[in-house]
Amino acid sequence: MPITPHELVENLGDLPPLPQVTDRVLRLAAIPESTAEDFLRVIALDQALAGLTLRMANSAAFGLMRQVATLPQAIAILGLPTLKSAIIASSARNLQRRGAVSPQARLLWEHALAVAMASRAFAERLDSPAAEAFTAGLLHDLGKAVLGIKIPEHYTPLLRAVHEQEGACSDQELEAFGFDHTMVGEALAQRWHLPPGLGAAVRWHHEPRSAPADHRRLTAVVALANHLALELGAGLGAPAALEEASHQAMELLDLDPGALASLKAEVRQAVEREGSSLESF
Ligand SMILES: [Fe+2]
Ligand SMILES: [Fe+2]
Repeated sequence: MPITPHELVENLGDLPPLPQVTDRVLRLAAIPESTAEDFLRVIALDQALAGLTLRMANSAAFGLMRQVATLPQAIAILGLPTLKSAIIASSARNLQRRGAVSPQARLLWEHALAVAMASRAFAERLDSPAAEAFTAGLLHDLGKAVLGIKIPEHYTPLLRAVHEQEGACSDQELEAFGFDHTMVGEALAQRWHLPPGLGAAVRWHHEPRSAPADHRRLTAVVALANHLALELGAGLGAPAALEEASHQAMELLDLDPGALASLKAEVRQAVEREGSSLESF
């Protein structure tokens, strides 16, 4: 059995590092002076990423009735925040694909997408950065994918029990391993050099009050989205297990129950509308 989340992530050698190109894009994104040309140079070197960028730009430009044929045009249409989110998303998807194709693994991916869409919709309505919220939502349970890849013999039965008994996943993980998926996710976020806001959302989405002050708002948005996704049936476990996290998020975002209810109704509609558009990830 692994002893610490870091050992789980680092000492067992077959976990993929963040693809080099993604790592370079993230480093560029962390430098405020980076230009579209800098991104272009990196993306042009990677066929899969260039293809993804063009495909996304063409679906974004669908309403413009013209074809996007070049990378500079594609980057201009998408904008850097969206591009960055999409690149991280495709890495997360690759990681998830490595896990066993169990009903639980499929549910985890559906959950990640639902939380990503809901996080973006909440952020848009709360005047928070939407692309960052989308990525944070997509990655928030990344630790579960790592556990599923690394120790499937322990983790698959645990997920099944969470699903059937509707208990709190983190509690069962803590009891079984001495750490939970948020700590494993944090270890991977560090290894991947993800921006600190994403790391905070991964680590503290069950306890947003404990997130560092700079990232508390983003973490609270993800906590609300996480709760809503389970209420919509996208994920494993009972929504009741996330009520405390949701309650902390309400306080941090200054929402009263009435405001939250109408916000949730809007976000729910947005998620249902968008539902199938992300399946290509
Ligand atoms: Fe979680
Ligand atoms: Fe979750």
